[in-house]
Amino acid sequence: MAKKTFGIDFGTSTIKVYKTGDGIILLEKNAVSTVGKEKKPVAIGEKAYEMYEKAPPSIHVCLPLSRGVVSHLEDMTALWNFMGKMISGKKKMSRCQFYIAVPADITEVEKQAYSKIITMSESKPQKVCLIDKPIADAYGLGLDIEKSRGILIVNLGADTTEISILSLGGIVVSKLVPYGGNDFDRAIQNYVRKEYNFVIGLKTAEQLKIKLVSTMETDQTATVVGRDVLKGLPGKVTISSKEIYPLVKDIFYSIATQIKSMLERTPPEISTEITHNGIFLAGGTSFTSGLDQFFANEVNVRVNTTTSAQKTVVAGIGYLSEHPKLAAKYAVPLE
Ligand SMILES: Nc1ncnc2c1ncn2[C@@H]1O[C@H](COP(=O)(O)OP(=O)(O)OP(=O)(O)O)[C@@H](O)[C@H]1O
Ligand SMILES: [Mg+2]
Repeated sequence: MAKKTFGIDFGTSTIKVYKTGDGIILLEKNAVSTVGKEKKPVAIGEKAYEMYEKAPPSIHVCLPLSRGVVSHLEDMTALWNFMGKMISGKKKMSRCQFYIAVPADITEVEKQAYSKIITMSESKPQKVCLIDKPIADAYGLGLDIEKSRGILIVNLGADTTEISILSLGGIVVSKLVPYGGNDFDRAIQNYVRKEYNFVIGLKTAEQLKIKLVSTMETDQTATVVGRDVLKGLPGKVTISSKEIYPLVKDIFYSIATQIKSMLERTPPEISTEITHNGIFLAGGTSFTSGLDQFFANEVNVRVNTTTSAQKTVVAGIGYLSEHPKLAAKYAVPLE
C-alpha cells in the first residue's frame, strides 16, 4: 500500500499541495533559483521569486511553468526535490501516491510533462495519476458534478484562464485561454517604465495590481518604490486606478466574449441548467474588484464567487485523494 497520498496543483504562480489526512499543507510561489549546470537549488518559492530580476549571473532564477504547460522541466523537478524535502523532513518521500491536476485543454505530451516532474524527481513514487483541473475545481467548489446537467467554471489564474463546461460527471468542453493575472503585472510594469521612466519589479507591479485593478475606473491610488531611470536613483511613484484600467480592460472583454461564444455553442438542455446554477468563478484573478458583476452583465448569467478561489483546484484534488473510489473515475494513471 502507498505510504501517503499527495494532491498537487502546479499553478504558474503558486504551487498548492494537499496531503491526505492533513489537508492543504503548502502554498508556495512557483519559482526556483539554482546554481551550476547540475541545477542545484539554492532557494525556492517566495525566496527565489525575491531574487527574480535581481540575482547575479551565477544564480539562475526560473519560473518553470508558462501558459499552463511545464516549460522548464529540469528546473521544475529541482524545485520539487527541494519542496519534497521541506514536506517530508528527514523521512524519505518514497512509495507515495500522487494526484496531479492538469489543464484539460493541453496535449497528452504536455500532460505527461506534469507527471515527469514527480517521476524524474527523487520522490520515487508508487503511483502517479493525472486529473483534469476542471473536475478538481468542481469538487473543490463543492459541486455535485455527477448529478448536475450543466456547470460552467471559469478559473482565472496567473497565466491562464480555463473556461469549462461539465455535465453528468464529465467535461463537455474546456478551453485554456492564454491570459491571466501575470499579463496585468507585466502591463503595469511596462506602463510605469514608459510613462514615468521608472523601473519596478514584477512583485511590485503585482502589489499595484492587487490594490488598483478593477473592472471599472475608481478613485483609488497607490504609491510604490522603484528606481528612476533618468536620475538612476531610488524613488517613489503614485499610480491611479484610472491609469491601470485601460491596460487591463481588453482582457476582461476578451474572456467575456470567450464565455459567451462557448455558451452559444452549448446544447440548450445544458445551457438552461448553467443559467439556473450561475457561472462559478475560481482562481486568484477572480478576486479582481467588480469582475463578477462585469461577467454577469456581459454574459447575462448570474455569477458565483468564493473567498477560497485560489485553493479550489487543490481542495478538489485533495477531496478526490481522500475518496479513492471516486478518484478512480477521473484519474488517469501513469503506465
Ligand atoms: N486580490 C487580488 N486581486 C487580483 N488578483 C489577485 C488577487 N490575489 C491574487 N491575485 C492574482 O491571482 C493570481 C494567482 O492565482 P492562482 O493561484 O489561481 O494562479 P495559478 O494557479 O498559480 O496560475 P495558473 O492557473 O494560470 O497556472 C496571481 O496573478 C495573483 O496576482
Ligand atoms: Mg491555477
